[in-house]
Amino acid sequence: MFNIYRHFLNGTPEYLARHYWWAYLWSKGVWFFDHQPIINAILFGQYKKLMKSTLARLNNSSREDTLQLTCVYGELTPKLQEAVAPEPLHLADVAMVQLELARSKSPGNMPLLAARMNAEQLAYKDDSFSTIVLFFLLHELPARARTNVYGECMRVLKPGGRLLITEYGPLPKNHLLYRIAPIRWLITKLEPFLDGFWHEDIASSLNEHGISHGKKALNIWQEDIFGGFYRVTQYTVESRDG
Ligand SMILES: C[S@@+](CC[C@H](N)C(=O)[O-])C[C@H]1O[C@@H](n2cnc3c(N)ncnc32)[C@H](O)[C@@H]1O
Repeated sequence: MFNIYRHFLNGTPEYLARHYWWAYLWSKGVWFFDHQPIINAILFGQYKKLMKSTLARLNNSSREDTLQLTCVYGELTPKLQEAVAPEPLHLADVAMVQLELARSKSPGNMPLLAARMNAEQLAYKDDSFSTIVLFFLLHELPARARTNVYGECMRVLKPGGRLLITEYGPLPKNHLLYRIAPIRWLITKLEPFLDGFWHEDIASSLNEHGISHGKKALNIWQEDIFGGFYRVTQYTVESRDG
């Protein structure tokens, strides 16, 4: 019974199968979670605001070479496709069931270049992308995987490129949801890596990993949402000698 996750260890990282098989890998779970009211409930009613803020950053800017790093439930992928059209949207995820779901929602006239890949070790060459969008991925990764993803983002982003991260904010000590112990318990039970993420300084981690690629990341814009419980942040990645 407790080893049910092993059934989902099909080229997927161990943490993903162990902690999230029911949410991302099990077809019935995938069907269940991909409903607007469920997605919105998980994000305490903030889904539309988070998506709107993320998409707004793509207006009036380069549409070429955009990567959505991992799939998400809801409408983000088709909206991103619209935002970058007529350029294709690149999408990478390690779970076939998620890539198939994304493909099923893709508007037929807009190209989606979906590929099965581990975000910790991307099969893209250095300096491939002008934009990378990470929507609620990082808090679901253990520390080592987060580290690897920061490194890969710094490697595959072109100098001058941008990284959009939509995520939980830093440790929300004063937020009501954090102060109500049973809610805090439930959130951290369902999201076992969130506490580590809450304590992490994203800019420092990106810069630590940028060194070996000769790049640095600057936080150029941030919007706090839901009293700072969530945030949308834009980093620009530059060459260290530029
Ligand atoms: C973006 S995250 C969370 C999304 C958010 N909860 C939502 O749906 O709105 C979930 C996705 O990340 C993918 N994922 C997790 N770890 C990964 C990894 N190391 N490489 C590629 N995809 C990964 C899962 O397969 C899943 O599709």
